[in-house]
Amino acid sequence: MKNVVLTLAALTLLTTAQARTWAEIKQSGTVKIATEGAFPPFNVMKGKEPSGFEVELANALAKQLGLKVQWVIQPFDNLLIGLGQDRYDFVIASHGITPERQKAVDFTNPHYCTGGAVVTKPGGPMNAAALKGKTVAVQVGTTYLENVRKVPGVKDVKTFPKDTDAQAALMAGRVDAWVGDKFTGLDLVKAQKGKVVQGSLLFNEKIGMAVKKGNASLLKELNAALAKAMSDGTYAKLSGKYFGTDVRCK
Ligand code: ARG
Repeated sequence: MKNVVLTLAALTLLTTAQARTWAEIKQSGTVKIATEGAFPPFNVMKGKEPSGFEVELANALAKQLGLKVQWVIQPFDNLLIGLGQDRYDFVIASHGITPERQKAVDFTNPHYCTGGAVVTKPGGPMNAAALKGKTVAVQVGTTYLENVRKVPGVKDVKTFPKDTDAQAALMAGRVDAWVGDKFTGLDLVKAQKGKVVQGSLLFNEKIGMAVKKGNASLLKELNAALAKAMSDGTYAKLSGKYFGTDVRCK
């Protein structure tokens, strides 16, 4: 009998451990959003507070939805796993919308469009063909890793937990190139004043926010809030502030 009761309790736990629906989030008054906080200028820590383009955008969307925000900071590679475990309501961390990830989560409409670009020291490899026989640094779990693996003849791909560590490996001369976001790359080139140069794009990608697979009610609200921000000037203002251009998908 005791066993039966325990089993039932476990079953109830299992079936109630579901992502919060829009109605539940709305009623609680606070949305839990996860990001990495180590991917400037998109999501980065400013002291103890997350900031950056995506953080400001998500804060604006939450405000528009009438919600307070509780930020959760996680290593990039854990973000989508934690979503599956209901640790937070959605993730905004520059995830490219890929068929592989779409098996695990649902994505909003894209909140920006970008690409993965090669960055190297002057005289280094500037494009896919030139990466032949070279060593490349990328952040683990990213579309950069997936795409560099497809480039024929690359000698070695070194993965780093953080994108900024991959950049540091390039600066320290431990790799021949770093592949990362084209906007992040532009910032690195600027910050390093001519010590690195940006080469070609290896691929383009659409970036979206992720909700737990099947959380259609939250997905709908996020898409509506994003559309509103894109039409009322909120998005354009933020994009201008961070990039000097409008990064929405055209
Ligand atoms: N856009 C790339 C991807 O989809 C990199 C994302 C990295 N994001 C981050 N917060 N470090 O994998």
